[in-house]
Amino acid sequence: MDRIRIVGGNKLNGVIPISGAKNAALPLMIASLLTDDTLTLENVPHLADVEQLIRILGNHGADISVNGRRERQGESYARTIHFTCRNIVDTTAPYELVSKMRASFWVIGPLLAREGKARVSLPGGCAIGTRPVDLFIEGLQALSANIEIDSGYVNATAPAGGLIGARYTFPKVSVGATHVLMMAATLANGTTVLGNAAREPEVVDLANCLNAMGAKITGQGTSTITIEGVRSLSGARHRVLPDRIETGTYAMAVAMTGGDVILEDTDMALLDTALEAIRRAGAEITETNSGIRVVRNGAGIKPVDIVTDPFPGFPTDLQAQFMGLMTMAKGTSHITETIFENRFMHVQELARLGAKISLSGQTAKIEGVGRLKGAPVMATDLRASVSLVIAGLAAEGETMVSRVYHLDRGFERLEEKLTRCGAHVERVSD
Ligand code: EPZ
Repeated sequence: MDRIRIVGGNKLNGVIPISGAKNAALPLMIASLLTDDTLTLENVPHLADVEQLIRILGNHGADISVNGRRERQGESYARTIHFTCRNIVDTTAPYELVSKMRASFWVIGPLLAREGKARVSLPGGCAIGTRPVDLFIEGLQALSANIEIDSGYVNATAPAGGLIGARYTFPKVSVGATHVLMMAATLANGTTVLGNAAREPEVVDLANCLNAMGAKITGQGTSTITIEGVRSLSGARHRVLPDRIETGTYAMAVAMTGGDVILEDTDMALLDTALEAIRRAGAEITETNSGIRVVRNGAGIKPVDIVTDPFPGFPTDLQAQFMGLMTMAKGTSHITETIFENRFMHVQELARLGAKISLSGQTAKIEGVGRLKGAPVMATDLRASVSLVIAGLAAEGETMVSRVYHLDRGFERLEEKLTRCGAHVERVSD
């Protein structure tokens, strides 16, 4: 199994191209099941999760062709992919596929809306928390779906004339359930109003793409989304928005190591709260013609307290990386995780690098140690893994990160992007 070897201590200097967002690409790809026409997505990142979803959509009958494989757009290998699902050949999403990637559960929305039925495996356990699907079920029932759970599968059927638009308010903000309800409601009879909807940029990106396909969605980006059902959707061409989590991760890496880096092809507005926290920690962040410039020269890292929250709050997907940064602060900081109950698996591993962190419920207390020392580490999820990579960049000596497959799920060409900025990072195959 591959590992990543990092020799820390180098400052980062140069340009890092930011890829298309994984968490936008996945629901956008799933939206292709809503139409028999071709949906073309540009700027799709080349990631293990995308490849897995290509397999899953193929299973439902989508014909998928990848253009410009390895085509260079600026410095990145962004790809343009065409999805055509003339006929849905299978409305079942089996356990073998859904258990590998939770987001594949989301096919339930389009399958139910277009075919009137779907049989989708429950996603099962997950390293960062229990992550139930009750909100999806409740929301689809509000659209008049009949739902039964049997032998680990959710069996959903729509009334004879199709789903029926309704008013539904989520008891808790959920990105995935907002994606699914929005997709399902595009083809429902009548109007659906979703209250307490997720406001994440990826939800806005999906709504914009659905509108380009002929849907009638308004209010995306606010907590009330209105969807007027239409009879059918057509194809469209849509560019996946930049990855705000990748952007924030590299910004934190520069804040940790020091240096001067331009993050290209991204947008500050996607991650205001996180950038503000990095600024308060001591990095200079400015918008330039070519992207976001992150600089830290000389100044020490200051402790900053954060609480994760749904957008526009501090993203849970940057919590582990920010904890890495705080281990090097001069002073004590607190990080409270409010989205997932078990998203502190990186704490033990950061401690192996010399960090001093104690946990009390959902809050971590980080006593800055000023410097970290390299060690062998491993992580159980994507964002935790990358927090170890960026901590390794700032640590003295060698850090070996195992279970690299987690990183390959969500960070495109990580080693190459960092190496070009002067980091010593390499993939080691055993
Ligand atoms: C999305 O997951 C992201 N995944 C996650 O990124 C991200 O951490 C999360 O949103 C929060 O921002 C993708 O976009 C593919 P949720 P999602 O439903 O949609 C609870 C990464 O590293 N909940 O917003 O699955 C749930 O348990 C990943 O890229 C219910 O209780 O997250 C959690 O506590 C990890 N019942 C909270 O809501 C439900 O039916 C928010 O989860 C659904 C969710």
